[in-house]
Parts: sequence; C-alpha cells; structure tokens
Amino acid sequence: MSRTGRVYLLIGLFAAGCGGELDDMSNGPGIDPNAAPKAMFETAVQPIMMQTCNVCHTGNAAGPPFMAPMPDVYSTVKAWPGLVGSSPQASKVYMKGMHEGPGFTPMQAMIVAQWINAEAMANRGGNPDGGGSTIIAPFIPQPGSNTIDLGTLGPGLAGATLKFDASISGAGLSMASLSITAPATTGIHVVHPLFTVYPQSGPAAPDPVDSFSGLDQTINMGATHMIGPGTLILTSFHLGDKIGVVFQTLAATNPPGGTDGGTGGGGGCKDVTDFTADAKPPLSNTCVTCHGGNNAGAQSALDMSRVNDTSADGQAAACAQVLNRVTPATPAQSRIFQVTAPGSTAVHPFKFPDQTTFNAFQNMVSQWIVREQ
Ligand code: HEC
Ligand code: HEC
Repeated sequence: MSRTGRVYLLIGLFAAGCGGELDDMSNGPGIDPNAAPKAMFETAVQPIMMQTCNVCHTGNAAGPPFMAPMPDVYSTVKAWPGLVGSSPQASKVYMKGMHEGPGFTPMQAMIVAQWINAEAMANRGGNPDGGGSTIIAPFIPQPGSNTIDLGTLGPGLAGATLKFDASISGAGLSMASLSITAPATTGIHVVHPLFTVYPQSGPAAPDPVDSFSGLDQTINMGATHMIGPGTLILTSFHLGDKIGVVFQTLAATNPPGGTDGGTGGGGGCKDVTDFTADAKPPLSNTCVTCHGGNNAGAQSALDMSRVNDTSADGQAAACAQVLNRVTPATPAQSRIFQVTAPGSTAVHPFKFPDQTTFNAFQNMVSQWIVREQ
C-alpha cells in the first residue's frame, strides 16, 4: 500500500488521549452488534486501541504507525496490510497478543473479534460472488414496481418478497413503498439491510448514510411491513446500474424442522434471567455475527438468531436455542466450548486465539450452564 509510507509524516497530529480513566475505559463503551462496521470500530474498538495501542502505533514511536489518522484511524487500520483480515484468525491485530505492547484482554478481544467478523461480512456483501446467505445479489431495478424473491435466502423464506416502487432520475434512484412480505407460514426477522449501488464501472458504493443501520423488525407471518419509513434514495445511482442488499439478519422466526422451541413457549430454560446476564453478552460479542443469521451454515448448526432480541420472549427463545448445544451436568464438555477452544481439532471457522480469552468466555457462559442442571 503506497499510503503506509506517508503515514509517518503525521506524527503528532493525533496526540494520545491517555487520561486517567484506565479502568473505566478498558473494555470501551461496549459494542452495538447492529452497527455498521465503521461505527462499530469507532465507538467500541477505537477507544480500546487509543488507550492500549496508540502510544506505540500512532507515529514516530516504537511500533508501525497503523493508528496514524490518514485521514482517520479507521481508514489507516483498514488500509494496513493484513491488520483486519477476513476473520479474527487472519487478523494481525487480533492475533498479535503480547509483544513489546500488551495483547487485548479477553473482553476486549471479544469486542475486536465481533468487529472483524462484521467487516468480513460487509466485504462479502461488497462482492457479489462472495457467498453468504443474506445477500440479495445485485440486480437492475426497473422504473415502477419491483418485486424481489427472498425465497432462496434462507430456510423457511419461500414466498417472502421485497417490494418497492422505483423512480430513476438525475438525482439517482428513489425507492418508495419499500416493504417486505413474510410467507404465510412464518414471520421474518429483519435486521440492518444495507443497500449498495453496483455501478457499471468502478467500485460498489454502499448507501453512504447507511439508512437502515438501526433497523430491527419482526414481520408477522403473512404480513407486509414497510422497511423503516419505506423510502430510500441512492444518489450515486445511474440508469443501468445494479443495486444489491446485505442483511445483517434476514431469517424465518419459525423455520421448518427447527430443532428448538424457537418462538418461545414451553420446553425452554430454567433460568432465562441468568442466561441474559451471563451468557448473552459473550455470545453476542463473538458468535452472533455468524450464528445470528448471516451465515446459513452456522445458523443451521446452532441457531442464535434470537440472542440479541432482548424482549422476554426473545431471550427465552435464545436460551432454548443455545441450550441444545450445552451439557449442564458437565459444562466444560459443552459443544460450544469444544469447537471454539484454541487448538481444538473440531472443524469450526472460529477459535479463540489463546487460552485466557477462551477461559473468560467459558467462565461467563458456564455460570449460566450450571443453572440448567
Ligand atoms: C510499548 C509499545 C507498544 C504498544 C503499547 C503496542 N505495540 Fe504493537 N508493536 C510494537 C512494536 C515495537 C512492534 C514491531 C515489532 C513486532 O512486530 O513485534 C509492534 C507491532 C505490532 C503489530 C504488527 C504490525 C505489522 O504490520 O506487522 C501489531 C498487529 C500490533 N503491534 C498490535 C498491537 C495492538 C493490537 C496493541 C494494543 C492492544 C499494541 N500493538 C500495542 C509496540 C507496541
Ligand atoms: C466466522 C463465523 C463463525 C463464528 C464467529 C462462530 N461460528 Fe460456530 N459455526 C460456524 C459455522 C459455519 C458452523 C457450521 C459448520 C461447522 O460446524 O463448521 C458453526 C457451527 C457451530 C457449532 C456446531 C458444531 C458441531 O459440530 O456441533 C457450535 C456448537 C458452534 N458453532 C459454536 C460457536 C460458538 C460458541 C461461537 C462463539 C464463541 C461460534 N460458534 C462462533 C461459524 C461461526
């Protein structure tokens, strides 16, 4: 990357903000799993790195200056070769661990892992061939009414559609009556659709204001609902361009052949309150990006689509979902630990980078697991 050479000139532009609040800030302000990757980084990861890494990584200091603002810290971190990577394991920043500087604490590592997963997800969305189950592949919108079939995007979604009325002008693509219709047999949980313009030449251009970043809606079976306010304007769109949509989650609330009481009701957990207190935060931080609905393989192996649904019903359902993969009598033998332990031989795309991080995860989640004995 040619920009890394110039980064060294920026020494001092961004003085390290080492205040006296070390303890308060050591985990940062927490992470919003529905935020766009950049917002996730800036609100949750950057505060941690400003405090623990910046002093050596901002400019004329001991380490490579991958935190020098060019023009902001996020841009430099993203541009730095290999720093983010396509998964936590492939990320230098996540895997570095203790060196001349410190490694992340276990809680910090979970937050960083979640951000890296979100980046990977967004990258796959930016690449139409990149796979992933919750992507509407780029298509050319027609002036007037458009109906997009969502049936192939996940189990139980047959019959689901996305509809909008398009008008195309010099001001771009304007969508009105933007709505989703759920199939007759199941509701749909929709989280954070990001619309992206794929111009006839040049790079993909995601909705610059990420209009639906805060969206988290459940559409009842058979019902049609507006997406947010039901309108969206993509000003960079020109006639003949394509658009695509990446959903953080687009999942049936009651998929066929579901293995658990996914929609609440009996047969669930003994201690949902403790699940919410002890198990939900680490699961949200590290597992939900894949198991919440973005990765069909992950979701069908272990469905965590309700973990971030903080309604009473949602938490009861989430607890029941995870209960399938734990062993209350001997928590350490729970499948959720066996496949994610560092050095585990299980085929699983995510493993904790070291024993400390793993232990922190196991200890927190186990506090809940023993309550299910
Ligand atoms: C006391 C100074 C110091 C602190 C604090 C520090 N580092 Fe470093 N870091 C270094 C030095 C020196 C190097 C170069 C030698 C090496 O790679 O170990 C380095 C290298 C790195 C590299 C390799 C970069 C590359 O391009 O290969 C990564 C990744 C990294 N540090 C991450 C971090 C993270 C994450 C933090 C905060 C949790 C951090 N460092 C805090 C001194 C520091
Ligand atoms: C990068 C995406 C990703 C992340 C992050 C992830 N998983 Fe998975 N997980 C998958 C995929 C894909 C599968 C299904 C295929 C497989 O087993 O490899 C899966 C399967 C599983 C299974 C079932 C495996 C079996 O053989 O029974 C468990 C249990 C599991 N994951 C637990 C977790 C836990 C706990 C976390 C968080 C600490 C987590 N996963 C994080 C992608 C992920």
